[in-house]
Amino acid sequence: MARTEEPGVALTVNGRPVRIAGDPDRPLLDVLREDLGLKATRFGCGQGTCGACTVVVDGEAGLSCDLPLGELEGARIETAEGLLSDPPHPLLDAFLARQAGQCGYCLPGILMAAKALLETEPAADRRRIAEALDANLCRCGAHHRILDAVEQAAREMAGAT
Ligand code: FES
Ligand code: FES
Repeated sequence: MARTEEPGVALTVNGRPVRIAGDPDRPLLDVLREDLGLKATRFGCGQGTCGACTVVVDGEAGLSCDLPLGELEGARIETAEGLLSDPPHPLLDAFLARQAGQCGYCLPGILMAAKALLETEPAADRRRIAEALDANLCRCGAHHRILDAVEQAAREMAGAT
């Protein structure tokens, strides 16, 4: 007898395999927050223009409000919760040390955009960091401290290799 294929879309989220059934047009942001309880990823504009919902998809920064579930079969998704690994990602310490946020609403998206950058460009300088974070808005105006923190994490990560 032919094997029935399991319904839904198979993803890996922060290293954990999951299968999500339902409307393939649902944005990944909804799936993360509502189905998987991963609330760190923020809803900002919902229209792909603020960066609050940024996650890492197959190693690259992506806007989860603008990524339909149906296009993500087999994707490897990382969210800010994944930075709390053991040991925690150096970005977390650097953001705390530099007091890089005020309200913190933008930070999960910024952390994930920065993580994607430093994985592909570990020696990224301030100009490259600013370019990579250009699409992530911070209404509190904490940009300078955010850039300081990402630079600090990059230096620490370079020293650790
Ligand atoms: S909530 Fe996705 S870009 Fe604003
Ligand atoms: S710290 Fe408040 S929006 Fe960035």
